[in-house]
Amino acid sequence: MPGLFITLEGGDGSGKSTQSALLTEWLTAAGRTVLVTREPGGTDVGVELRNIVLHWRGDIAPRAEALIYAADRAHHVATTVRPALERGEVVVQDRYIDSSVAYQGAGRVLGGEEIRDLSLWATEGLVPDLTVLLDLHEDEGRDRMAERTTFDRLEAEQAEFHARVRAAYLELAEAEPQRFLVLDAREPRETIAAAIRERVSALL
Ligand code: TYD
Repeated sequence: MPGLFITLEGGDGSGKSTQSALLTEWLTAAGRTVLVTREPGGTDVGVELRNIVLHWRGDIAPRAEALIYAADRAHHVATTVRPALERGEVVVQDRYIDSSVAYQGAGRVLGGEEIRDLSLWATEGLVPDLTVLLDLHEDEGRDRMAERTTFDRLEAEQAEFHARVRAAYLELAEAEPQRFLVLDAREPRETIAAAIRERVSALL
């Protein structure tokens, strides 16, 4: 496809949205058309699904949770991401398949491979050109999140859940070093932004 698909991944509070904004600013200044988007909730239907999966006050069966994220992703890719890539745009996206593999596959212990296959089916096999992993120890992510006030079912999980998520992300990155750029989320935001720009420059 003519466009470039960049995803940002990492635990809650790792600074993905800050880096997404800095990268978008730089790409736009360089004359690129950028679609900034996120999962869950990158479409109108997705906003409804996001509300259910993050803010539902009761239990959601783990497989149902995985399917809601996959449904959000299927609709988002079909109606928003793939068309933008076909138009030759750069898509900068907060979270994608790796989030499901880490949170549902490892966090909820549903199994990474099956979750990955589910998402690949949902997206007809759309894989990012570059995935930036902002790596942060789970305790630090939680300290950063403590400043936020909204309740989120996934963030509310125990430390062991978030430790499994982090370990799964690092394993994914190790398995696909060509696709991943792993950065220490504790570095200053400008240092991280510069490292991302360098890698994106090479792809443009
Ligand atoms: P997000 O809006 O990125 O929250 P934050 O800004 O706190 O990182 O994501 C919402 C939550 O959804 C986050 O806790 C991770 C979770 N999530 C999954 O569990 N699976 C998925 O496939 C995705 C996309 C997100």
